This record gives sequence, structure tokens and C-alpha cells, in this order.
Amino acid sequence: MARNVVISGGGTGIGLAAARVFAAGGDRVLLLGRRAEVLEKAEVPGALTYAADLADPEDVRGVAAFVERELGAVDVLVHSAGGSGLLEPEAPEGDALAAVAHTWNVNFRLNTLTAVLLTEALKPRLAEPGGRVLFLSSIAAYRGSGSGAYAASKAGLHPYAHDLARELGPRGITVNVVAPGYIEDTEFFGDAMAEDRRDRLIGETSNGRAGTPGDVAETLHWLASPGAGHITSQIIQVNGGAERGR
Ligand SMILES: NC(=O)c1ccc[n+]([C@@H]2O[C@H](COP(=O)([O-])OP(=O)(O)OC[C@H]3O[C@@H](n4cnc5c(N)ncnc54)[C@H](OP(=O)(O)O)[C@@H]3O)[C@@H](O)[C@H]2O)c1
Repeated sequence: MARNVVISGGGTGIGLAAARVFAAGGDRVLLLGRRAEVLEKAEVPGALTYAADLADPEDVRGVAAFVERELGAVDVLVHSAGGSGLLEPEAPEGDALAAVAHTWNVNFRLNTLTAVLLTEALKPRLAEPGGRVLFLSSIAAYRGSGSGAYAASKAGLHPYAHDLARELGPRGITVNVVAPGYIEDTEFFGDAMAEDRRDRLIGETSNGRAGTPGDVAETLHWLASPGAGHITSQIIQVNGGAERGR
């Protein structure tokens, strides 16, 4: 039977790849993101789209109303919205401490708040039994990300997922986190990925390659399958062994 799958950040990268995998399996997909034109251009058969800033409670209320009207129940909720803040407006120059506050706020809003607000708004709509909630964390949550802000904003999703798994378990709903390493061919790094940085990231893997959006999409699809029904409150790393290093 076709499931209703809501995917935040579904217009690009990992979210888009996930949307294509679920749609190919016959599921009905709703793509969320801030840029309507990006969502509309996504080539996902039968997909619905809704543009919203998921860090804004008012926008999230709009998503919940749209979901109630168009889908009713949500079988699978995938939180792919997020990023390192690289593509967000920069802090005003000249005040170092204000710049730190800006970076941490941007990352918290992008990665933690988007996922928490959307989950809380759609919680009553999750299918029971059988519902699935899937968060996107990062290898950074285990080992830092430079400034710490991105890593912390992802790590914050881990205890939230554990609490949610306990809360929703009695309703037959699983909650898991997928934590990718370096995944190329997404908008995450903007236009530019320095060749030496790419080489270093690939060099950390055991299998000698970058991850693809499809690697993560297939893992999300598996966690959403009936066969994964006893897996909950877990963090699954998809990084070619990079967290262990060379
Ligand atoms: N690529 C990697 O190496 C990597 C590694 C580990 C983890 N991840 C995580 O995987 C997830 C997907 O990343 P990606 O690599 O596929 O990058 P991406 O192509 O930049 O995807 C991020 C998506 O999130 C959406 N988004 C951002 N802020 C939003 C907001 N406030 N409200 C609604 N939508 C929002 C963006 O669309 P709009 O700008 O139109 O809103 C975009 O479609 C992210 O959470 C990222 O942190 C990526």
C-alpha cells in the first residue's frame, strides 16, 4: 500500500534522493523546503510540494494544516532540512562575539529547530502502528566540525530522538537517526569543494570513496521498511568507515 512520506529539505541533495527512492517504491511524497522554485523543479513522480521555513513556528503550522488537508496520516517523516550555515546570511562584521552568537543561532535553527518543530507539529498525524521518524545527523556530531556549532546542532538531535522513541514506541512508531559522513553532489558545500579537502575526506574512509545521496537514501528507505520495525532509538552512521579514520 502506498505510504505518505513527508521529506524536509526534499528539493535537493539527500532529501531529493530519498524522495526518489520512496516514490519509486510507490509511496506518495511531500517535499518541504524554503525555495518554492527548487521544490517545483524537483523531478519526483507524483510529489506534492509546500514551501516553508521550518524554523518558523507559523510556517510549520501551515505545513501541518496542508498535511491534514492533503495527506491525513504521515507514515514516514524524514528530516533532511539542514546545513552548515555556509549558505545563510553572514553575521555583521566587526563584533567577534556577536559573530559567534550568530553562527551558533544559525546552526541551531537550521538543524535542531527545523526538525523539532516539524516533528512536534506532525506528531499527532503519525501513522500508528508503523509510523517512522528519521533524522539526519552527521559524522560531525561524533568528532566536531571546526567551530563546534554545526556538530552541536546535530548532536542535539540524538537525545531528542531517544526521548521521542520512548514516547512514540507504545504507538508502534520507530524513531532513528542517520549520520552521514562526506556526501557529494548536494548543495551542502555550496559551489566550491577544494580538491585537497575532498581528497582528505575520502582519505579518511575505509572504502576510498565519497558517499552519495543514494547511499543515505537507501538507508532511510530501509529504516522505513516493515522489516526494520524493531530498530528504534538508533544512530546509523553512513560514512564508509570514516569515523574510525585511517
Ligand atoms: N552532504 C553532506 O556531506 C552531509 C553530511 C552529513 C550530514 N548532512 C546533512 O544531511 C542533510 C541534507 O543535506 P544535503 O547534503 O542534502 O544538503 P542540501 O542539498 O543543502 O539540502 C538541505 C536542504 O534543506 C533545506 N532547508 C534548509 N534550511 C531549511 C529551513 N529552515 N526550512 C526548510 N528547509 C530548509 C534546503 O532547501 P532551502 O534552502 O530551499 O530551504 C535544502 O533543500 C542536512 O541536514 C545536512 O546537515 C549532509
